[in-house]
Amino acid sequence: LATTQRHLTTAPRDVQRITVFGAGLMGSGIVQVAAQAGYKVTMVDTNEKALENGLSIIAKSLPRVAKKQSPDDIDGFVARAKSNIATTTDRLKAVENADVVIEAVIENLQLKQELFSALDQVAPPHAIFASNTSSMLVTDIAATVSEDRKTKFGGMHFFNPVPVMKLVEVVRTEKTSDETFETLMQVGRRMGRVPVKAKDKPGFIVNRLLVPYKRKPAPFGTPCTHTAPVEAVRMVERGDATIEDIDTAMKLGASYPMGPFELFDYTGVDITQYVSEAWEGYAKRGLIPADLVKQSPMLRKMVYEDKTLGKKTGRGFYDYS
Ligand code: CAA
Repeated sequence: LATTQRHLTTAPRDVQRITVFGAGLMGSGIVQVAAQAGYKVTMVDTNEKALENGLSIIAKSLPRVAKKQSPDDIDGFVARAKSNIATTTDRLKAVENADVVIEAVIENLQLKQELFSALDQVAPPHAIFASNTSSMLVTDIAATVSEDRKTKFGGMHFFNPVPVMKLVEVVRTEKTSDETFETLMQVGRRMGRVPVKAKDKPGFIVNRLLVPYKRKPAPFGTPCTHTAPVEAVRMVERGDATIEDIDTAMKLGASYPMGPFELFDYTGVDITQYVSEAWEGYAKRGLIPADLVKQSPMLRKMVYEDKTLGKKTGRGFYDYS
């Protein structure tokens, strides 16, 4: 009851300006849904080329969303969203007026910590920080900011393609305040997503189940067998079935919109590899079962030797050239 009452009495903060770090697939998608919702958004990356790439992803996606959300005024919808987006490579200036800062840079803990501790010095005291990490603990990413900012720190984990995928996992750490949590939930809703509350545990909800599905060798009889019935990569490594047949089987036999290998290529083979590497550390800390993180030779070779990372490099499990 106490929790319910507290929940009801904590109002979210008013948010108008959002700064997003990272102009890749995820970052640009977050910028887009924020701009569509009427937020003033600043997209930040380290160079102009990355920003241009982000803007072109948005420019391609916006009319597709407009066709559904505003069929009678597609041009107006696109123009309004675009007018809400600014870009910069100046990472400190970018947060001077921010109410919420969302980080969607590569999955490198040191890089994320360094970014947030620098931003902590210059962002307004009320600004909320959120990470879109898919594999790390938000608590670890928040480790280098001030104690006060830790109460204004949470996770907002979106799914690719962000303009289509309705879910956002809103992550609370031990230190996230009620106001911060409620504000992130509210921002997620206003962005047109459906927010779910996730504890700060490796993989939150979806990836904790999805990563094993795509790559986990799940021996029969373990609890994981129920949540991760397919060991897609291992099946191929063992020669049990082909990539094409596994994808066809999961689409037609289990109604997944994409097979596991199509999804690998779509999301980026490297992303799953980085997740599994990050999770090795969490397994050592006893936060996830050790057998979840066994490395796949096939994935390692694709990421580190062949650099066949999926659609973005023209080749992954499939050829896109
Ligand atoms: N922006 C806007 N609209 C888009 C879009 C985009 N980037 N991509 C697709 N769409 C729209 C299309 O316009 C189309 O709309 P209509 O129905 O009005 O024609 C609709 O979505 C369907 O698209 P397509 O016909 O081109 O193709 P599809 O039916 O195969 O759908 C898909 C594409 C939505 C990507 C679908 O295949 C899908 O849901 N795939 C699974 C995606 C998934 O599982 N994502 C999660 C990955 S895990 C993750 O992101 C977390 C992490 O931590 C890494």
